[in-house]
Amino acid sequence: MQERKAITSVPINELAARRWSPRAFDATQSVTKAQLTALIEAARWAPSCFGAEPWRFLMWNRADDATGWQQAFDCLSENNRKWCNKVPLLFMACAGATFEHNGQPNRWAQYDTGMAALSLSLEAVAQGLVAHQMGGFDIAKSRTTFAIPDDFMPMAMIAVGYQAGPETIADEETRQKELKARGRKPVAQRFFGGHWGSAAA
Ligand SMILES: Cc1cc2nc3c(=O)[nH]c(=O)nc-3n(C[C@H](O)[C@H](O)[C@H](O)COP(=O)(O)O)c2cc1C
Repeated sequence: MQERKAITSVPINELAARRWSPRAFDATQSVTKAQLTALIEAARWAPSCFGAEPWRFLMWNRADDATGWQQAFDCLSENNRKWCNKVPLLFMACAGATFEHNGQPNRWAQYDTGMAALSLSLEAVAQGLVAHQMGGFDIAKSRTTFAIPDDFMPMAMIAVGYQAGPETIADEETRQKELKARGRKPVAQRFFGGHWGSAAA
């Protein structure tokens, strides 16, 4: 199994360094109930504006809900379906549009939901699993299929499971993506010290 650790100028925590978004999954290994609970707890304890917990997560475990899993899989884009066919567990993270406590618009809901999704993704690494978030899915279809209310926005689907070797990916183009070097923009292009555009020290 390939390790694709982040290349950093100083050492960082292991979970952040080891997290990445692979496409090769082991279809023979299911996620256990305890692992699933740990993923949920990690997302559940994410911070949120006003403590509103504006996220909702739909989940489909192929091992005990093959029909639901297939419906979720069918919502994915063609490119994502090329590699998600071996994924044991799929999630969909949705963000609420309004605060429950006062009905006002919650402009932080998507930010909060992203944090919960990252927390779940890091917990996956801690559990010996991998997580791959996906924006490529049919929102309208997912709304209809899973009765998602209008005031919740489906943000991302997340594939979770055990990583497999890149050679298990049948589609050549997808396999090449799996082997591509990981990278990030230079720090100075994304992190500013004091004023917009000035390089951080
Ligand atoms: C909101 C979001 C949407 C994404 N959508 C897709 C997607 O539809 N398909 C895909 O293969 N990867 C998708 N990704 C994964 C990104 O391509 C990946 O995180 C990015 O290239 C950085 O790579 P890394 O996660 O391995 O560090 C998405 C990631 C995020 C956070």
